Amino acid sequence: MSLVLNDVTISRGVGPVISNVTLEIKPGQITTLVGPNGAGKTSLIEGISGVLIPSSGSVMMDEVNITKFSKRKRANSGLAVVEQGRMIFPSLTVKENLQLTARTKADMDEALGLFPELEKRLNNQSILLSGGEQQMVVLARAFAAKPKYLLLDEMSLGLAPVVFLRLLPVIEGIAKSGVGVLLVEQFAHLALGLASEAMVVTSGHVSYQGSPKALLDDAELLRQKYMG
Ligand SMILES: Nc1ncnc2c1ncn2[C@@H]1O[C@H](COP(=O)(O)OP(=O)(O)OP(=O)(O)O)[C@@H](O)[C@H]1O
Ligand SMILES: [Mg+2]
Repeated sequence: MSLVLNDVTISRGVGPVISNVTLEIKPGQITTLVGPNGAGKTSLIEGISGVLIPSSGSVMMDEVNITKFSKRKRANSGLAVVEQGRMIFPSLTVKENLQLTARTKADMDEALGLFPELEKRLNNQSILLSGGEQQMVVLARAFAAKPKYLLLDEMSLGLAPVVFLRLLPVIEGIAKSGVGVLLVEQFAHLALGLASEAMVVTSGHVSYQGSPKALLDDAELLRQKYMG
């Protein structure tokens, strides 16, 4: 059981933005994907989530070929995504935001359990929350859907590192509960520190795939891989 990309190529208008990526996201583990701006990280996430349909290759979820599934069908099959720049619905309360994905009261309570500090904010309009609290709601909302696989695209964007540090152990806990996580991050060191598997993408190509430790231990290697 895993989420597998086999030789996936993703194109947008001008041509391929992701070429021949093969990747396995295992339940209970974090795979961290890093790479420079414009490398194709979001496009890869979109090819998995169904915003884009790969032009070749396949996406398999627990042995089911989901390559041509709609976004909704993938979500119903157990895939949750936090899209880059995705925000809460500002006019809804925290509770209403969570109710968008939580099917039962138990799912809601479990999601709130990730961030006990949200309890007292439940009936506040989400726009009144800080940026960090809003990202907590976004993550809790994705978790409330009870996904098997969770794709996170740059949740740290616009957050101070100290605020992002609050999210990291929670992401780790979600993986420990059995969810397979793909973590795309600009804070390479923090994100690689949580990972079982690492991948670096530059200009749509995989420049590194393997142990996160090797990259963490060797700043020069990480720099080289970022250069493509
Ligand atoms: N909506 C779009 N239409 C056309 N081209 C796009 C679109 N979005 C991204 N691109 C192009 O696709 C390539 C990959 O972009 P993508 O957003 O996937 O990279 P990224 O690694 O997520 O970058 P960032 O770190 O800035 O989020 C880039 O060349 C980008 O200019
Ligand atoms: Mg991106």
